[in-house]
Amino acid sequence: MKILLVGSGGREHALALGLQADPECSELHVAPGNPGIAQIATTHPLVITDNSAIVALAQKIGAELVVIGPEVPLVNGVADELRRVGIATFGPSKVAAQLEGSKTFAKEVMSDAGVPTAKSFTCTTQAEIENALDAFGAPYVVKDDGLAAGKGVVVTRDRAEALNHALACQRVVIEEYLDGPEVSLFGISDGQTILAMHPAQDFKRAGDNDAGPNTGGMGAYSPLPWAPSDIIEDTYKQVLAPMIAEMAARGTPFIGLLYAGLALTDHGTRVIEFNARFGDPETQVLIPRLATPLASLLYKAATGNLGDTKLQWRDDSAVTVVLAADGYPSAPKSGAPITSIPTIDQVQIFHAGTAMDGNGLVSAGGRVMTVTGIGSDLTEARNRAYRAISQIDLEGSFYRSDIALNASVAEKGN
Ligand code: AMP
Ligand code: GLY
Repeated sequence: MKILLVGSGGREHALALGLQADPECSELHVAPGNPGIAQIATTHPLVITDNSAIVALAQKIGAELVVIGPEVPLVNGVADELRRVGIATFGPSKVAAQLEGSKTFAKEVMSDAGVPTAKSFTCTTQAEIENALDAFGAPYVVKDDGLAAGKGVVVTRDRAEALNHALACQRVVIEEYLDGPEVSLFGISDGQTILAMHPAQDFKRAGDNDAGPNTGGMGAYSPLPWAPSDIIEDTYKQVLAPMIAEMAARGTPFIGLLYAGLALTDHGTRVIEFNARFGDPETQVLIPRLATPLASLLYKAATGNLGDTKLQWRDDSAVTVVLAADGYPSAPKSGAPITSIPTIDQVQIFHAGTAMDGNGLVSAGGRVMTVTGIGSDLTEARNRAYRAISQIDLEGSFYRSDIALNASVAEKGN
């Protein structure tokens, strides 16, 4: 099977490795890719906001499966255009991708499906905003309704800050604060059936102990030794299955990866948000642990044939740590040389914001690389990831030192 994967981040590098490892994949093309991906697949230049260019490339290479990594082309409706020309596509339609593209839409579907989430108001005027802020009280949670590349959400005790953020959005969702650990749990769906993956935990803040600004994600690990033992089954029943059933009943089935961002509160599981694609960096710990061949799995999802497929997992742990460029997230510096990338057994280094210049590999984005360590437990996986990332030379770069730290301590106590 010839496969085209669209995207260029660490997530796509991990997906590319997974797809490539499946003997069913005869040719892997990635667009635009990055220098790390170029070592394992054929890469093609591409502007990912150009739907016709994606369709044309898929046709040119004779792709039998297209996998869309990032949210922007999905929200732009590229999956509809690919299906229209008869190409099996892993990724939701424009309407179904609104589960990520519009917080209000996601809330409506959750309400119809009976899926537990924070109570919320959608507001467009200052009076509505102020009423909603005062109805919930501090801490205030204010979310831009549309896609905002990770910058749309403000959680604060400062009412003036909450109000300012709300006024800067055209349409804003103000919601109840959810207290409890956050978990990312993904489901792979063919529109009717959904297979729940293992949970992962992401670290969104830039600094250790969750200090500093929100980022795209600074690290992740899986499995979660501290999580309730029924978390997968419970999320499947309460969240994933009802969402897929509701989207199908509306005549807009969700085909692709449904990412549930959950808060485990004292009152039970609540959905914080949905995404319509694999998470980054959670994918960099889930794909190395997934034993089910990935190309066949995504093809079955894309063609409505998941049936009674069961996901198989390796009995090991994975920890991934993001190497961020100087100045990330507000103003990352690009163009600095990256050297001494180690080769270590049970370590996978995924490229994200990297590029080749005349002399070699340089930084070209905020999240530069993601380094995944695999081990028999989180402690071993962590040690491997940190040993590898500490050897990479990139001036001004930084990484969090506490990814999976508490979980690895909890695991030892079990
Ligand atoms: P989102 O972009 O929706 O993932 O939100 C970014 C981050 O804001 C989440 O990972 C949470 O840490 C936080 N957040 C979002 N909604 C809530 C909420 N209702 N209560 C508490 N924290 C929230
Ligand atoms: N890990 C957060 C995201 O992919 O949105």
